[in-house]
Amino acid sequence: VNNGKQGYAHYMLKEMHEQPGIIEKLLHHYGDHAAGTSLDHAKLTLQHRQRLGIVACGSSYYAGMVGKYWLESIASLPVDLDIASEFRYRNTPLSSSSAHLFISQSGETADTLAALRYTKQLGITSLSLVNAPASAMARESAGFIETLAGAEIGVASTKAFTAQLMMLALLTLRLAESSAHCDAGTVKYAMDSLRHLPEQMRQMLKQQDAIQAIAGRLRRARNVLYIGRGMAYPLALEGALKLKEISYIHAEAYPAGELKHGPIALVDDELPVIVLAPPGELQEKTLSNLREIASRGAQITLISDQAGVDLAADGIQDAIVMPDCNAMAMPMLYTLPLQLLAYRVALLKGTDIDQPRNLAKSVTVE
Ligand code: G6P
Repeated sequence: VNNGKQGYAHYMLKEMHEQPGIIEKLLHHYGDHAAGTSLDHAKLTLQHRQRLGIVACGSSYYAGMVGKYWLESIASLPVDLDIASEFRYRNTPLSSSSAHLFISQSGETADTLAALRYTKQLGITSLSLVNAPASAMARESAGFIETLAGAEIGVASTKAFTAQLMMLALLTLRLAESSAHCDAGTVKYAMDSLRHLPEQMRQMLKQQDAIQAIAGRLRRARNVLYIGRGMAYPLALEGALKLKEISYIHAEAYPAGELKHGPIALVDDELPVIVLAPPGELQEKTLSNLREIASRGAQITLISDQAGVDLAADGIQDAIVMPDCNAMAMPMLYTLPLQLLAYRVALLKGTDIDQPRNLAKSVTVE
């Protein structure tokens, strides 16, 4: 149901602000009392599989990348991740001991749907993670999990993306419960930390001034580089995609550790770089990559917690200081400043934010 913009200048802005409420709803619906829900069904379908294939396009693919990190490291389930338009023509051997998960906001994307039909034809169990329960993918898969984000109107995905992340987090924790490699304390701790997420997201959404100032500097950029490591890498990809989609500025994302294998050649004092350095074991490594580019003049915006910002000190031009959060909550929380930044830059550039040129909300042709 489309309830209009409800006083917001754009659907995208409204949908970004709906995110904390959607996370609350997902916690309520799928959290502790998940027995009998579609998440419970997915857990039963996936728990004894040797591998999981994840297939998607666009932002949904980046959600799948985060999902791969979680499912492998917490639930010990090996994941093969593919872009749908590549997967469907790849003739990859699939084993009946594996299952597939198709991620799609619309549930109608032509390439993802074709990939789903292809795996079904091979007799492989196929589930989908969709925001549209009446969609073709929901109908045609053996089971579907619903992201409950409500109709998303802005072409560039925001709330559907964080809802996909949240469902992948919850799926990981459900599978981890029955994994011999994960103890109950870890699952409980992660679950508790997810409960703080809506409040942390609300805090983050209030930090518009810092983001506005950074957007003012980015609006004239021709290229922007986003870097991160671990789960911050897919978020860097998503941040770069958001900027491209709505501001038409060329943006590229790289794993921070790969900079030295090419992109560092691009760094000069005109290149803005957005560095994602959430707390955790990779933070120090990301900050050392930051120092490498700072010494070459890059204009750095750091998105990190207070400790990370203090450590980076003189190397940076701007910072977005994030609330403290647990590793499981990080991807949903760190997505917000990336969305807001792209939105603010697009606003300054005067582009058609909800309907960017050449893009469609649902791509039902190949
Ligand atoms: C289009 C949209 C993107 C979306 C992608 C995949 O390109 O503009 O925002 O991520 O399709 O869509 P899906 O509905 O399958 O998630």
